[in-house]
Amino acid sequence: MRFFIDTANLNEIREINNLGILDGVTTNPSLMAKEGITGKNNIFAHYKAICQIVEEGDISAEVLATDYVGMVREGEELADIDENIVVKVPMTKDGIRAIHHFTNNGIRTNCTLIFSAAQALIAAKAGASYVSPFVGRLDDISTDGLDLIQKINDIFLNYDYDTEILAASLRHPMHVLRCAEIGAHVVTAPAKVFLDLFNHPLTDAGLKKFIEDGQKLNLR
Ligand code: E4P
Repeated sequence: MRFFIDTANLNEIREINNLGILDGVTTNPSLMAKEGITGKNNIFAHYKAICQIVEEGDISAEVLATDYVGMVREGEELADIDENIVVKVPMTKDGIRAIHHFTNNGIRTNCTLIFSAAQALIAAKAGASYVSPFVGRLDDISTDGLDLIQKINDIFLNYDYDTEILAASLRHPMHVLRCAEIGAHVVTAPAKVFLDLFNHPLTDAGLKKFIEDGQKLNLR
């Protein structure tokens, strides 16, 4: 399973990338706005900076346009920033049309705002490289988000779509673990969720004891 970080914050991206476990980055307009990045030049420069940090990873950059022509124009510009850019497109009729266009022109895509298996199926048929089902936002409305990951995985296993499941809107380590059990290809989560995966109180207690006893060994 690949790990993407869901942030536009360069320090967080560097921190997780330095651990050697990062395979890519997802951003969205809300995450970019949170970093205070405005204006096309600054936004494009920010995407480039992310690509330079995560040299081998896929970087999702979302179109802001909502109409087909605008999405195609914006997506082609975003794809020109770097070969690792994946154009993120919302799950709408125009979005699916744009994904079909990008697929035919060798531009990789991430179909975002997926909340049903039917939507994931449509995006796969259009040739999306990734579908992003939002687990946490479904949980927020008392619907089992992980059940959606399971359903999409079951459907994709029946066919030979190239589309990968990028489980998104993950809020805690158990979301990540359940996605791994189900077989999601990729998870994207904030830095805190990744850092929480490292923690176990018995590791801390065990290490403390080893350090104490290690000092008795007098290595120096
Ligand atoms: C996915 O690509 C989205 O950027 C993200 O995972 C949404 O997460 P949120 O529901 O925590 O905003």
